[in-house]
Amino acid sequence: MGAWPLAPGETSTLRGLPEQQAFGAAWAALPPGSVLFLEGELGAGKTSLTQGLAQALGFTEPVTSPTYALMNLYPTPAGTLLHVDAYRVRDPAELYEMDLEALIEGSRLSVIEWGERLYADYPEAPVLHLEHMKSPEIRQVTRRR
Ligand SMILES: Nc1ncnc2c1ncn2[C@@H]1O[C@H](COP(=O)(O)OP(=O)(O)OP(=O)(O)O)[C@@H](O)[C@H]1O
Ligand SMILES: [Mg+2]
Repeated sequence: MGAWPLAPGETSTLRGLPEQQAFGAAWAALPPGSVLFLEGELGAGKTSLTQGLAQALGFTEPVTSPTYALMNLYPTPAGTLLHVDAYRVRDPAELYEMDLEALIEGSRLSVIEWGERLYADYPEAPVLHLEHMKSPEIRQVTRRR
């Protein structure tokens, strides 16, 4: 394990689900109102990472992929954890019409999956790229910015 959370450009290998969740937990260090972008193919570990983050904020219930709901709001003891999946969104304007900006501002933390079209609007937000490796027991994560 390296130093978590990662600095821009750094990569970590995550061996198994507990490590994936522990990696996610490290991002609870981001200040209130922060955004964390996640990119990575099906099964790369986005939800697992988010589950670990939710646990670190004191939320003990299950976290699921917001693919159909578009947004999940988890009421953690530390404040709201907003979980957005922008995969099915045709135009980012749809998200802003759902009051995304105010929701982010009012949340402890916002995790946004497939949010490439929002990167320019949140230039301070880290982007984590998750990948499968040859072994199914391993994932790799790179902080792209
Ligand atoms: N570092 C890891 N090592 C091994 N297995 C992992 C790791 N991280 C997650 N997994 C496992 O991989 C599977 C997929 O993880 P997860 O649901 O978090 O992916 P996802 O990126 O959210 O997928 P989707 O795009 O379908 O929502 C789960 O069974 C999970 O337990
Ligand atoms: Mg998922």
